[in-house]
Amino acid sequence: MSRHYAITTPIYYVNAEPHIGHTYTTVVADTLARYHRLAGEETFFLTGTDEHGDKIAEAAARDGLEPKAFTDRISGIFRDTWDEIGISYDRFIRTTDADHIRAVQTLLTRVHDQGDIDFREYEGLYCVGCERFLTDRDMVDGLCRDHERAPERRKESNYFFKMTRYFDWLGETLEAQPDLIRPERYRNEVLAMLREGSGLDDLCISRPKSRLTWGIELPFDADYVCYVWFDALINYLAGMGYPDDPAFEVRWAAAEHLVAKDILKPHGVFWPTMLRAAGLPLYQHLNVHGYWNVDDRKISKSLGNMISPLAMREQYGFDAFRYFLLRDMSFGLDASFTEEALVTRINADLANNLGNLVSRTLNMTARYCDGQVPEPDGAGAEEEHVRDASVEAARAVDEHMRRLEPNRALAAIFALVDATNRYVDARAPWKAAKDEARMGEVRTTLHTCCQALHSIALLLGPFVPDTAEEILARLGCSGALASARLPDTAAAFDAPAPGTSTRKGEALFPRVEAP
Ligand code: MSP
Repeated sequence: MSRHYAITTPIYYVNAEPHIGHTYTTVVADTLARYHRLAGEETFFLTGTDEHGDKIAEAAARDGLEPKAFTDRISGIFRDTWDEIGISYDRFIRTTDADHIRAVQTLLTRVHDQGDIDFREYEGLYCVGCERFLTDRDMVDGLCRDHERAPERRKESNYFFKMTRYFDWLGETLEAQPDLIRPERYRNEVLAMLREGSGLDDLCISRPKSRLTWGIELPFDADYVCYVWFDALINYLAGMGYPDDPAFEVRWAAAEHLVAKDILKPHGVFWPTMLRAAGLPLYQHLNVHGYWNVDDRKISKSLGNMISPLAMREQYGFDAFRYFLLRDMSFGLDASFTEEALVTRINADLANNLGNLVSRTLNMTARYCDGQVPEPDGAGAEEEHVRDASVEAARAVDEHMRRLEPNRALAAIFALVDATNRYVDARAPWKAAKDEARMGEVRTTLHTCCQALHSIALLLGPFVPDTAEEILARLGCSGALASARLPDTAAAFDAPAPGTSTRKGEALFPRVEAP
């Protein structure tokens, strides 16, 4: 039986267009999906848009549009952007999709029937930006801490999910499964929320239609719509086929969530208790990353520092931007984007290090071996060393990808690039080629370089797919990724076969100037 893997991104609100933050999460998910497909696992990659609630209704009204027309437009921009940059999702879910609405109503009915939802009057301070009532801790000087705007006082009769009755169970589960939420700092944050209360109470899950109609109707009271977070989280089930697609169970049993720290509470507290109440198993892991700041400032529309993925593609090529995002953020910690740092990365790692290895290997293969992968003339300790480095890189990439450390996986691949460049420097085939008697050594060196490049390209496949394909094509191995099985194929170090025709090509990554 093949192994399964399912990865999700948050479904993004359609009140902003895709920026560096959404792009990072989506690119990490795409890289993981590509990696697990290459590892031979049956993989399902889910992304989409979150379209209900006050915040979206407000944004639509500002644009003078009906909510559905507005969400169609922005959701389309997200989907088109992901298509343009080659995000390999399997399902793009919208919370306005009929199957999502049915999944939400099915789950609500189930939780209601078993007595975990009741009706109460509530009064409090509500932030439209957060889509929830605030507690004292959520406010600074009377303003919402996150949105820096004054909350509104609201009094309503509403339905509540009796979340608190599951808190002891959740605490015990987090003790028993220490990496359920990872990295550890975020697990500790959730444990602290449970310990300190952090304003955590039973969850108000309805909005009266008298105030908000833009939402999913409660199946047990037609005067109310569902609170947007309760609705949104269920996308993960709906997108995988809940309630009745036969594929649902295996996908859900392999589910990995990817989110940033801003939405830790709904994913670390609301969601597991909802699943428990609905009698469903938990996700495999909640993988939480930090925040991208731009020029050391928070991203915001008013600062105009959102960084559009399409603009980055236009200027640097998408693989270069993708590489930077994956390499420069230590998964779990915050990172800072500056165009200088991007340019430095492109020049140091892609143009100089990788690009140089590709160009010198293929140029010398053209010059000394008629453009064909040469037959080696034996192999010594130095060749063994490069082969060992390749085996080690493939092993390390597998370990880091399964631990959600894409930056470390890339560092491991570049350790192999470095080792191969050092090997070429030490063997100096351009010098050896001056002596006819040493041509066997030249052939061995270039054969080893072609094999190392082949392994490097396979390992880079999930991270920089177009670049990997291009290197493989130049090595005469077009399409090798389609039949590769990571980590084994990259560790095997047995292709391309001698006699394969190679092609020099242009510089893979031309050096770029700082802006
Ligand atoms: N709609 C909710 C999520 C519902 S999931 C059931 C939402 N949407 S959002 O559009 O605000 O997206 C938040 C997510 O976008 C973050 O968790 C993260 O994945 C990504 N990012 C947005 N800004 C970010 C940064 N500045 N840095 C890194 N990622 C961030 O919350």
